[in-house]
Amino acid sequence: MKLIIATIKPFKLEEVREALTEAGVRGLMVTEIKGFGAQSGHTEIYRGAEYVVNFVPKVKLELVVADAIADQIIEVITKTAHTGKIGDGKIFVLDVEQAVRVRTGETGDDAI
Ligand SMILES: Nc1ncnc2c1ncn2[C@@H]1O[C@H](COP(=O)(O)OP(=O)(O)OP(=O)(O)O)[C@@H](O)[C@H]1O
Ligand SMILES: [Mg+2]
Repeated sequence: MKLIIATIKPFKLEEVREALTEAGVRGLMVTEIKGFGAQSGHTEIYRGAEYVVNFVPKVKLELVVADAIADQIIEVITKTAHTGKIGDGKIFVLDVEQAVRVRTGETGDDAI
């Protein structure tokens, strides 16, 4: 299993959620965050306003998926969250050792 951590522009959340659901994702964590990337505090547009502060609002997605579909899911996020402007976000991928569905005790791929 892989943990995919993606930061996206907040207005893209609904579109990305729909695309992920269509792609078979059955669980997702969403957190409102602030952060910076390569521009680190230089101007970035958010909701029509130019941010010159150090941190820009983003949404962080965390999802655990089976190895077999990880690349496809990364592609779905990349395509759906893309605007071509700076600040479109980043995706990090980590190996996951184990997952457990608490209700049933199922583990691994069966638990996600
Ligand atoms: N190296 C990193 N480590 C952790 N989080 C990061 C890193 N780079 C970016 N982020 C997170 O991703 C968000 C969006 O990053 P962003 O899209 O601006 O990356 P970038 O490298 O500056 O690309 P771009 O040039 O397209 O803006 C940041 O606000 C931050 O939350
Ligand atoms: Mg940036």
